[in-house]
Amino acid sequence: MSVKVGINGCGRIGKLLIRFLSESDNFEVAAVNDPMPSATLFNLLKYDSLHGKFFDVTEFNDDSILLNNRKIALFHETDPKNIPWGEYNKLFCASQGMILLIKPLLLVLTSRN
Ligand SMILES: NC(=O)c1ccc[n+]([C@@H]2O[C@H](COP(=O)([O-])OP(=O)(O)OC[C@H]3O[C@@H](n4cnc5c(N)ncnc54)[C@H](O)[C@@H]3O)[C@@H](O)[C@H]2O)c1
Repeated sequence: MSVKVGINGCGRIGKLLIRFLSESDNFEVAAVNDPMPSATLFNLLKYDSLHGKFFDVTEFNDDSILLNNRKIALFHETDPKNIPWGEYNKLFCASQGMILLIKPLLLVLTSRN
């Protein structure tokens, strides 16, 4: 069984992590949080001028994107404390600001905004 990963902040690092983990049998990205609209996130993820087209992402709506026919839950919160991360992940990647995870408690220490 693969380890579920949650990603907070889907900029350069978050998007790279999604691509990287999509090739893994041991990890799967289960949830992503980023305030940007789903359509923007989808387009930036799928069409990357540096890394090329990401064929594995195929569809999106307000609350999910489809990656290899598997849904990744999408959230658009500015405060990651509002997300029930525990339902979605065992590992957590903070790629926006500094976040400390004490499982299952998520403490937001600082944020860039
Ligand atoms: N890229 C690097 O080389 C590098 C090196 C050292 C440290 N860092 C740090 O790592 C973090 C991520 O870097 P990056 O290059 O991916 O940054 P980035 O600017 O490309 O992405 C940050 C993402 O966070 C999202 N975001 C903004 N506010 C948010 C919020 N309140 N909740 C959730 N998401 C939010 C933005 O929409 C954006 O998509 C930053 O804190 C950066 O300072 C980056």
